[in-house]
Amino acid sequence: MNFQLLMIAILTICRRGYALTVDRESRERDHLMSPGPLPTAMENEDKDFWNADAQAVLEAHLAVTPKIQQAKNVIFFLGDGMSISTVTAARIFKGSQTGNWERERLAFEDFPFSALSKTYSTNSQVTDSAASATAFLCGVKTNNGVIGVDVNVARNNCTAQLDETFRVNSIAKWFQDAGKSAGIVTTTTVTHATPAGAYAHVADRNWEDDAEVAYDGHDPDTCDDIAEQLVFSDPGMNFKVILGGGRSHFVPEDVLDAEIGTPGNRKDGKNLIDEWSASKASQGVNSSYVWNRDDLLAVDVANTDYLMGLFSASHMDYVLERDTAMDPSLTEMTQVAIQILQKDSNGFFLLVEGGKIDKAHHANWVRKSLAEALEFEAAVETALSLTNPEDTIILVTADHGHTLNINSGTQRQTDIFSIAGSSDVDGMKYTTLTYGNGPGFKISGTGDRYEPTEEDMSDIDFSFASAVPFTSSKHDGTDVGIWVNGPFAHLLTGVVEENYIPHALAYAACVGEGRTFCDP
Ligand SMILES: *[C@@H]1O[C@H](CO)[C@@H](O)[C@H](O)[C@H]1NC(C)=O
Ligand SMILES: *[C@@H]1O[C@H](CO)[C@@H](O)[C@H](O)[C@H]1NC(C)=O
Ligand SMILES: [Zn+2]
Repeated sequence: MNFQLLMIAILTICRRGYALTVDRESRERDHLMSPGPLPTAMENEDKDFWNADAQAVLEAHLAVTPKIQQAKNVIFFLGDGMSISTVTAARIFKGSQTGNWERERLAFEDFPFSALSKTYSTNSQVTDSAASATAFLCGVKTNNGVIGVDVNVARNNCTAQLDETFRVNSIAKWFQDAGKSAGIVTTTTVTHATPAGAYAHVADRNWEDDAEVAYDGHDPDTCDDIAEQLVFSDPGMNFKVILGGGRSHFVPEDVLDAEIGTPGNRKDGKNLIDEWSASKASQGVNSSYVWNRDDLLAVDVANTDYLMGLFSASHMDYVLERDTAMDPSLTEMTQVAIQILQKDSNGFFLLVEGGKIDKAHHANWVRKSLAEALEFEAAVETALSLTNPEDTIILVTADHGHTLNINSGTQRQTDIFSIAGSSDVDGMKYTTLTYGNGPGFKISGTGDRYEPTEEDMSDIDFSFASAVPFTSSKHDGTDVGIWVNGPFAHLLTGVVEENYIPHALAYAACVGEGRTFCDP
């Protein structure tokens, strides 16, 4: 044996020996750490089960063919902050109610095409909802905090907001410019970042009314606020449907809220709800303003072409806390919106936002967040039932993630909100669901890590544990999902930049400023 071969042989033996030692140590550690029986397996899930299951999925996928035809309608579902982990947890939560557990499927998970969306903005690795809305509605990435303008507009720069060359138009406007209809539905204020992406051009997402513009030191007569843009500017002034919360941004200080009696926010004396109704009347079109569930459900859809519904002074309540006699569900709003928009034989664009998935995550209230995610899913199901996939694209995506984790520890068919076990470091309990950051961070009285069972974990306001304290949790920058059904859904596959989404939709619907199916 020559020297080289000898060295190789020695090295090989050493490496094997080393590997064996490490392996044994880690196995011993593993054993020490997880005493007790193995988790119970699902006995029916043998090889026949999995093979049959996979063959059925194969058949379904073999039957999928791309639909190469113009899309008449686009319904864009945006789950604010709906990370992939939120989707997984919501699915298991729903499965715990249906009995399907981990094998549950959300309505949009059966869509034939899906993709991953890269959501970073022009000035941040992790986007906010304003920059993100500009990307997925206007097709252009921009700075965090600004809406409907490009990278040239720094947040809070009123002068730059006025420069029309920096403005970008949304797919809602592209639809209207092509002679079709558009509308927005949300559970937040209708002037919040996501819906505003469909119509506003602002240097700051907080400028929902004139008082907010003035608060930041700018002249509200120079820089129009978001509510004003919705009512008086193209494309918002021509929306057929505007449903959500946010009455206070539309009415002046001396007008008290219809429901809770608080004064309006506006200092310019304008009642934008009245002005909206007056402008519709002067155009000779049928319009209706509603502010509660009964009035929404009583809307005469056949004779109403323009509908504004503002169901809360601010954001609408969480679904778990909503007064269901007063406030419509996201599903009810979506249904009425589609019924009105469907009257346009040329087609429509509708944005539907599940806006409070994000709000609940910010407080680490995972029970509330998953309930919002399931309300959002129910609205998708309603849209599916009211439309035809031969002429309607239904797209579901999120604007960014949240730092929700699903930790290992429980066996199958375990309540997703439960304790997952104990840490091998401090011996204290941990939950399956935790957050990377947010108000759920707590230190217990003894100075130890906080133990979740010290509080009422069944409370919907229980903040699940987080690793880093923040009064309101920071967003997560992980890619989010895109799920698509309908014509040209196959254009949305792979890993894509978020701002590509409306370009693909515009191609399919033959609208917009780029290449389209009708004008290739
Ligand atoms: C605001 O934007 C304008 C127009 O682009 C620019 O000239 C100005 O320097 C900006 N102001 C600040 C404070 O950045
Ligand atoms: C408005 O609705 C009425 C019925 O209430 C109908 O007769 C009329 O044609 C409608 N007008 C427009 C402009 O749609
Ligand atoms: Zn957020």
